[in-house]
Amino acid sequence: MDRAVDPVADQARAGDAPRTATLATMPPPSDTTGTSTPDSGQVALRRERPSEHDAVENLQRVAFDDPDDLPSLVSALRRTTGPLPTVSLVATQDDVPVGHVMLSTARLDAPARLVDVYVLSPLGVLPSHQGRGIGTRLIKEALAAADDLAVPLVFLEGAPRYYGSRGFQRADQRGFRSPSLRIPEAAFQVALLSAYEPWMTGTLVYSETFWELDVVGLRDDVH
Ligand SMILES: CC(C)(COP(=O)(O)OP(=O)(O)OC[C@H]1O[C@@H](n2cnc3c(N)ncnc32)[C@H](O)[C@@H]1OP(=O)(O)O)[C@@H](O)C(=O)NCCC(=O)NCCS
Repeated sequence: MDRAVDPVADQARAGDAPRTATLATMPPPSDTTGTSTPDSGQVALRRERPSEHDAVENLQRVAFDDPDDLPSLVSALRRTTGPLPTVSLVATQDDVPVGHVMLSTARLDAPARLVDVYVLSPLGVLPSHQGRGIGTRLIKEALAAADDLAVPLVFLEGAPRYYGSRGFQRADQRGFRSPSLRIPEAAFQVALLSAYEPWMTGTLVYSETFWELDVVGLRDDVH
């Protein structure tokens, strides 16, 4: 079911009161049924539909101003298989995607055993719709989706100033080791969810998709 969001009043931050999102566990909406239509102009969050693949890849292309890597990453992550299902959520206005976030399977190499975790990437909002709380809501919904699936940890690479007030903290300061020296220490971040337990430390191992596309960390601008 779609949830209508008031883009102005919606300044909620990840970490607010517990909520009962089930977007991750709901069946994907069909293109014609199973969703309610939010009032015109309102922003709604829901799972991505198969018919929106091209639109979502283009959205990320525009959001990141990146013609190649982002669309390829989105497309590849949809096909990525592993212990956890890929979660792909959109924020829509008038049923058209204006924001998008993905969770994809990864592993934490903990001392006791491997732990299935999520990586949050990419997150993008169309420039015309930025600054209205849409990115914040997508993060909150993604974390709730991971929590619904009893996933203990969500990792990402991103701006600490943005994610630090939206449920994330520096991962290196919680006993986690980055998958690459090319990720600035402060940019390697983690959200600890309900299923997290203190023994869960260790090295984050990205899925092969991130390595295949060479989108982990920052590369020197030297060729
Ligand atoms: C980052 C992004 C997803 C935020 O989405 P949004 O809907 O504009 O974000 P919100 O409205 O929820 O939050 C706005 C806040 O984000 C801040 N912000 C936006 N982009 C930021 C960035 N790159 N770094 C740090 N802060 C950023 C704004 O300054 C604003 O701060 P405030 O809440 O203190 O006023 C969006 O700007 C975007 O798509 N950017 C391009 C792609 C990108 O960089 N994605 C994130 C990769 S880690």
